[in-house]
Parts: sequence; structure tokens; C-alpha cells
Amino acid sequence: METIRFTKNEAAARTIAAYYDTPPMLYVHSFGCQQNVNDGEKIKGVLTDIGFGLAARPEDADLIVFNTCAVREHAEQRVFGNVGALKGLKEANPKLLIAVSGCMAQQKEIVEKFKKHYPFVDIVFGVNGIDTLPDILCEKLATRKRVLRMPAERGEIIEDMPIRRDSTFRAWLPIMYGCDNFCSYCIVPYVRGRERSRASADILREFRQLVAEGYKDITLLGQNVNSYGKGLPEDITFAALLRMLDAVPGDYRIRFMTSHPKDATRELIDTIANSAHISRHLHLPVQSGSNSILAQMNRKYTVEDYLSLIAYAKRRMPEMTYSSDIIVGFPGETEEDFCATETLIREVEYMQLFTFIYSKRTGTAAASMPDPTPHKEKTQRIARVLAIQEQVVAKLGGAMVGKTVRALVEGPGREEGTLTARLDNNMTVDFAGGAPVGEFADVRVTGVRGAMLKGELA
Ligand code: 5AD
Ligand code: SF4
Repeated sequence: METIRFTKNEAAARTIAAYYDTPPMLYVHSFGCQQNVNDGEKIKGVLTDIGFGLAARPEDADLIVFNTCAVREHAEQRVFGNVGALKGLKEANPKLLIAVSGCMAQQKEIVEKFKKHYPFVDIVFGVNGIDTLPDILCEKLATRKRVLRMPAERGEIIEDMPIRRDSTFRAWLPIMYGCDNFCSYCIVPYVRGRERSRASADILREFRQLVAEGYKDITLLGQNVNSYGKGLPEDITFAALLRMLDAVPGDYRIRFMTSHPKDATRELIDTIANSAHISRHLHLPVQSGSNSILAQMNRKYTVEDYLSLIAYAKRRMPEMTYSSDIIVGFPGETEEDFCATETLIREVEYMQLFTFIYSKRTGTAAASMPDPTPHKEKTQRIARVLAIQEQVVAKLGGAMVGKTVRALVEGPGREEGTLTARLDNNMTVDFAGGAPVGEFADVRVTGVRGAMLKGELA
């Protein structure tokens, strides 16, 4: 896999300086997953590199970038709504440029739709085009014509892209891009392309720098981190990468997402158990508790495989917590299939569940499967999951009461005068008492309300 080293686009910097009287301002809004948020930080990095400043509000911007998500139809509708709402801003300020990037821009029909129905969108570029953004912008300024790039499959890894991170203590660190799994409901492999891993030396260098800069919470990102290393010239697994990073001295915590159950190993669990810095939390999306649905989803594991790994992890680390994604109402999901999901979530006892109603994505295998279940039935199933979850969360939270835990202070809490902090197991606690944001603090858990722990500074 080819790696390209990014260098500053000096010509674009000169063009920007000549075109604008004062430094132009940029506003980026990222929708969807952390991978996208990280891409948004790179868009900010690449453009501040050539002279842009960052605007706090879209109203103050000369360039607005909507970095979009395509995973469910609802996400796409939101983007169309948000982009549509910019029409007024554009009328008030004809010099304003509007760009759309991200996963939606990887779909031809969507680019066509922007072209036809959203004439005030000036620029469209896909997920693998961030490094070329300065050139795209210069083309736009020089020709005054819209630059709508049709999605191209680019497989290179771009290293050394400048980045403007949103937080000073929490960082996203991609270790791989793309996905090869083709779960039958999922659009991601079509929009983000084939799996490719970054060289471990590049990851280690960025990781060391983050630790040196004082980042406390570093999340390794990939659609399927457990297949990290596949196709690299070096012989390395995800567990080995984790051990390499965990050996870096410092006061920080490592998290990672997302793990595919088919590739998650006992070696991974052992690595977490033996580590100094890896969060005692596993996001392991099961999607369904029915073997027949899992097979139709092309997930390549069974409920028994999944539960056996969780049971192993629970034995090794009783303090570990779990979270998962669940799709409700996959085509053909029967009441019996759904009951199997209920049984599974009762058994695992997830600390957090992300529950989605199946959304048909054109071009995926599931899009042609018959889906007779009425939508109302599906929303009722979601409500049933949430009801179970409420009991489970109350139980898990209750077990924390009385404990004193080390937690990373993230910002203001829900109630006036409180702060919120994240525990090693990914639970959050609201507590009274002052402590610096972005640092670890010892918090005594005193109670639980809903999904939120309450506490006080120890
Ligand atoms: N419909 C509903 N949920 C989906 N997800 C992915 N594709 C779809 C879809 N077509 C969910 C999965 C995945 C999470 C990121 O989004 O649960 O794990
Ligand atoms: Fe989509 Fe499956 Fe890949 Fe996750 S592993 S991004 S659900 S295809």
C-alpha cells in the first residue's frame, strides 16, 4: 500500500493570501462517527495550514464544510436539511463558499443530487480527498465554477497531514481505514473503500507525540481494529500494536473502536488485562442475538462464539464493562429472533447500547431482502430494548456506589456547579467540587441516576 507524505501547499497559501483581504474563516461541522470527526480535524488542519482561521459559528465563516455521514438514511436527511438551511446565509453573503465532504460525497447519486438540486453548494469532495482540498479550493477561486468531484477510489495512506484537534486532552488516532467485511446492511465498505492499515512506526510516532503534548485519552480508530496489520509488509496484529503503545511511559488511557467480534481474540483480552493504560471497556457490536439474522447479516460469528469471548473477558477482568450496537428490524427479523436479542442483552449486561432501526442502504446486499415487518413493530422493539437497558444500567451503576475511582475530568456536568468525568470503564460520573478539566481526579461514587453516576471529589 502506497504511503504519501503530506507537505504544505505553498502555492495554495499564496493564492489564499492574494484572494482575501483578511485571513478567511472556516467552519467545519462533522456528522456521524469518530472517524469522521477526526477527518474534520484534518480538514481544519489542512486549511489553517494555508491561512484559514477557525470560526466559532457558520455565520462568521467564509467557507463552511459539512463533513457528512451515510450510515443511515436519517443521517443523510439531516445533512440535506442542514445544507438546505445554508441557502439564506449564502444569499446574505454571496462570497461564502459551501463544501460537502465525507461519506455521502462518496456516492455518485448523492453528488448528482447536490449538483442538480443544491446550486449553492460550491465544492464536493470525498473522504479520500482531504489532502487535495487546497488545490480544489484554488480551482474554485480561479474558475469561479463549482468543483464537484465524483468519488474516486484512492487507496493511499496520507501521512503527516496537519491536524487541528477539537480537544486538548482527548484525541482520535486512526490506525486503519476502510472495511472489507461487507456486512449485508452496511454502506461503509462502499464509501470508505478497502481496508488498509497505517505502518506501526507512523502510529507510534503520532501516539508518542500525543502523550508528550499531554493528551490523556487516546482512542485508536478503525472500522474493524482487530484486523489491523492485514496487508502490511510488517508482521503485526492489533494486540501486538496495543502492547507497543501501552509500553510508552506516561499518564494516559488508551481506548479503541470498533472491534468486530469475528476478529476479537482471547489474546486481545489478555493484552488488555496485562496492560497499564488500556481502558477496561470493550465496544463489541453484536448487532443481533439471533444466529439466523447474524448469518443473513454476513457477520461470520454465532451468538455462542460471542458469548464465549465475553465470558472469558468477564473471568479475566471482572471490572470490565461492555457496549454494543444493535440493529432492530433487520429484514425478516421475527419476534423469535428479536426475543433472542433480548436474551443476549440481558445476559451480557451492557453498560451502553447504541440501538438502531434497520435502514435500507441502496447497493448493499440487504437492500433486496424482503422486509415485511411494519415500522411500528420495529419502534416497539426498540422501546423493549431500552426498557431492559434501563434496568441493566441501574444495576451496573448501583454496583459502583461507594467506590472511589480515578476519572478523567471532561467538562461541566449536567447540573449547575458539577463537573463530569469518565471512568476507566467508560462510565461517566457527575460530581461536585472543583478539579481541572483534562486531568485525572479521584472521585467517590455516591449514587446513580439513570445512566449517570453521581459523586464527589475524594
Ligand atoms: N441500518 C441501521 N443501522 C446500521 N448500522 C450500520 N448500517 C446500518 C443500517 N443500514 C449501525 C450498526 C453499526 C453502527 C455504526 O451503525 O449497528 O455497528
Ligand atoms: Fe459496516 Fe460491518 Fe464494516 Fe462495521 S464491520 S463498517 S458494520 S461492513
